[in-house]
Amino acid sequence: MLHSTRIAGLGFYVPERIVKNDELTQYMETSDTWIQERTGIKERRYAKRYEETTTTMGVKAAEVAIERAGITAQDVDFIVFATLSPDYYFPGCGVLLQRAMGMKEVGALDVRNQCSGFIYALSVADQFVKTGMYKNVLVVGAEFHSCGLDFSTRGRNVSVIFGDGAGAAILQPSENPEEGILSTHLHSDGSAAEELSYLNPGCHGGHWIDDQTRLSEYPSADSMDSILITPDMMEKEQIYPYMNGQAVFKKAVVKFPEVIMEALGRNGLTPADIDVLVPHQANLRISQFVQRTLRLPDEKVVNNIQRFGNTTAASIPIALTEAWEQGRIKKGDLVCLAAFGSGFTWASALIRW
Ligand code: UT7
Repeated sequence: MLHSTRIAGLGFYVPERIVKNDELTQYMETSDTWIQERTGIKERRYAKRYEETTTTMGVKAAEVAIERAGITAQDVDFIVFATLSPDYYFPGCGVLLQRAMGMKEVGALDVRNQCSGFIYALSVADQFVKTGMYKNVLVVGAEFHSCGLDFSTRGRNVSVIFGDGAGAAILQPSENPEEGILSTHLHSDGSAAEELSYLNPGCHGGHWIDDQTRLSEYPSADSMDSILITPDMMEKEQIYPYMNGQAVFKKAVVKFPEVIMEALGRNGLTPADIDVLVPHQANLRISQFVQRTLRLPDEKVVNNIQRFGNTTAASIPIALTEAWEQGRIKKGDLVCLAAFGSGFTWASALIRW
């Protein structure tokens, strides 16, 4: 029997350390004015190095979500953890969270869909709950960006945007078909995969693979040296994230409205039916563009990028939790989540609260 899936508990955690735009001017050529005008960001949080990790932040968010759902960590029967900044290359953060929270030997799945990660994770969890396979699924989105950014002027277009934090949700079956996740919509287009990427360490050995390039064409193809991280990569400092900001921006402002309209269309609804839109906090300018396109009033759109920057997989659960805590989401409301980011991947979810 198919159930509907409701969000039974939400939580978030952001590190204590507030990094204002002015602090970044100590490390790179930038300014508070530039950052605010182009992105809307005033400050972001940075995790405490060697004390906090993506997993520890995820645990703190999960503890709140679990408590609010009225369950304990022992009741969780599946974990879906979305991040692009895992503690280790492998294993993923899901098992680390399972260990840290002393959970039962439940399944732990790691999702790698960057800014769309939380909606992808939510969609996976929804399928398990709907079919009756699991009763308490923990979905986490968490990021520790500040551990791997290029804080020199060269990396400024990326580094000023990103912040650290975590958000979590507990998904449960509901007997009420009127409430819960109405639908989720997932998309990808890998043709521009490298336009927003962090390529190393990877098996490409410094030469990424596309239709035109094959590893065998390189003279060192027979060598048995490790190519995950080579001295050449270190020397050329190819160890940071890269973003073609304008290309990402142009695609985002098309795909955000498109995937929201897809979700509304699937459910016979229109933008006017949305009570609360929680967009991935990529850039305030992108959210404002989406808001104008859908003709939504300010009070229906959740923006907190000003205080937290872009926290990738964590941004939607953090913004959703804040909106819920502030009483902006009421029973019966139509809540829309939407994201676009690296991959490219994009996604939306419609939830009847
Ligand atoms: O969440 C994942 C998805 N990510 C996104 O959706 C991000 C999408 N893209 C963006 O948000 C914007 O493209 C950025 C905020 C990243 C950049 O804004 P932009 O208006 O596209 O700037 P730009 O990259 O075209 O750069 C304009 C100028 C350049 O200088 P010149 O060549 O005109 O002299 C940059 O070097 O601004 C310069 N610049 C900066 N200046 C001061 C780039 N970053 C900075 C900076 N501070 N931090």
